[in-house]
Amino acid sequence: MNILVLGSGGREHAFAWKLAQSPKCTRLFVAPGNAGTAQIATNVNLGVNDFEGIKKLVLSEQIELVIVGPEDPLVNGIVDFFRSDKSLKKVKIIGPDAAGARLEGSKDFSKAFMNKYGIPTAFSHTFTPETLEAGLQYIAENPGPYVLKADGLAAGKGVIITEDVSEAQETLRDMLQGGKFGQAGSKVLIEQFLKGIELSVFILTDGTGYLLLPEAKDYKRIGEGDTGLNTGGMGAVSPVPFADAAFLRKVEEQVVVPTLKGLKEEGIRYVGFLFIGLMNDGGNPQVIEYNVRMGDPETEVVMPRIKTDLVRIFQAAALGKLDKIRLAVYPRYAVTSMVVAGGYPGDYQKGDVMEIPEADKDTVIFHAGTSLRDQVTVTNGGRVIALTGMGRTMASAIRKSQKMAKKVKFKNRYYRKDIGQDLQKYVNK
Ligand code: AMP
Ligand code: GLY
Repeated sequence: MNILVLGSGGREHAFAWKLAQSPKCTRLFVAPGNAGTAQIATNVNLGVNDFEGIKKLVLSEQIELVIVGPEDPLVNGIVDFFRSDKSLKKVKIIGPDAAGARLEGSKDFSKAFMNKYGIPTAFSHTFTPETLEAGLQYIAENPGPYVLKADGLAAGKGVIITEDVSEAQETLRDMLQGGKFGQAGSKVLIEQFLKGIELSVFILTDGTGYLLLPEAKDYKRIGEGDTGLNTGGMGAVSPVPFADAAFLRKVEEQVVVPTLKGLKEEGIRYVGFLFIGLMNDGGNPQVIEYNVRMGDPETEVVMPRIKTDLVRIFQAAALGKLDKIRLAVYPRYAVTSMVVAGGYPGDYQKGDVMEIPEADKDTVIFHAGTSLRDQVTVTNGGRVIALTGMGRTMASAIRKSQKMAKKVKFKNRYYRKDIGQDLQKYVNK
């Protein structure tokens, strides 16, 4: 069958890489894609929110399966658009509709949802411009650290954590009155600070059945030792050595099952990925956030660990037959290191010529912010390229990933040299 992947990051390259290995995949398209996807698929220069353009492409190329990479088109209703258009009704599309995408699109909605269905999460209060004074008072009367979250999508930057009362109050004021984060900040949640260690668990669901995918840990900060500004993600590791079977069972029982039950009760038909950001607090899961898509760069370590044919998995998901699939996973470790442009996550340069090493049997190279200029690969984003290493041990996977990252050359490139190091102490325990 002909397949389309929407998006242009490392996540989408990883999907395309796995899909292209399937004997069921005839022609593979990526829109808009990057220089890496161009090597294994046909890139189409279309934005992910250009629904009419995507419809034309799907019809003219007889595409039968569409995988939506990023959250934006989901929150904007691309799945509703496909379901309500007669000519697209038969096309299988992987992703939730706009109602389901609110789990990511509105933190206020997802918090209310978790509370309603008894899903463990931090206690929180929501404030609006009308209740600003009450919010300021709430901060004054309660101990920190204060976790302030903009309600809407803020490109991963809508969370501010501070111990300082006046900084928390100033931030609340900026968000509610000063337009910090725009419309996304017109409601703000103040959340209890959770202790523990973070990881991400992913499922693919057809609304009833689900597959638990390999879990991952990502590295969000720009600096080594988890310091500095938040980024989209500087690296990832899978499996997560402290996520043992007992913990993952708790995640399924306390989070996954009640979430799917809640979606059903709310009348939401959810077909797609659900990314559950968790805190492991002494062996107990607390949900930090839901995302309605796969993670990036987590996908760059999850895909290389999946053995089962991904086209078969998506077909089953779209047909409500995921219960027929038994997911086969490679036990090996996968570690990815993201090479970024100097200055990221602040201002950075684009268009620099790149030197990229050849992958070998233990490494996979996933392009993120790259493009082709006269057949030459150049940088085209902050997060430029993800180097995934695989190995029987975490140490060997780290070594392979880092060795490849070192070989990527372009002006002012940067990558973290400590991806996975904090997890070594959990290995073989
Ligand atoms: P989010 O955008 O919700 O994923 O939040 C970004 C980051 O802020 C998370 O990955 C956590 O590291 C941190 N964070 C969010 N909520 C909390 C919380 N309630 N307690 C502690 N850390 C949090
Ligand atoms: N790496 C975190 C995310 O994709 O949201």
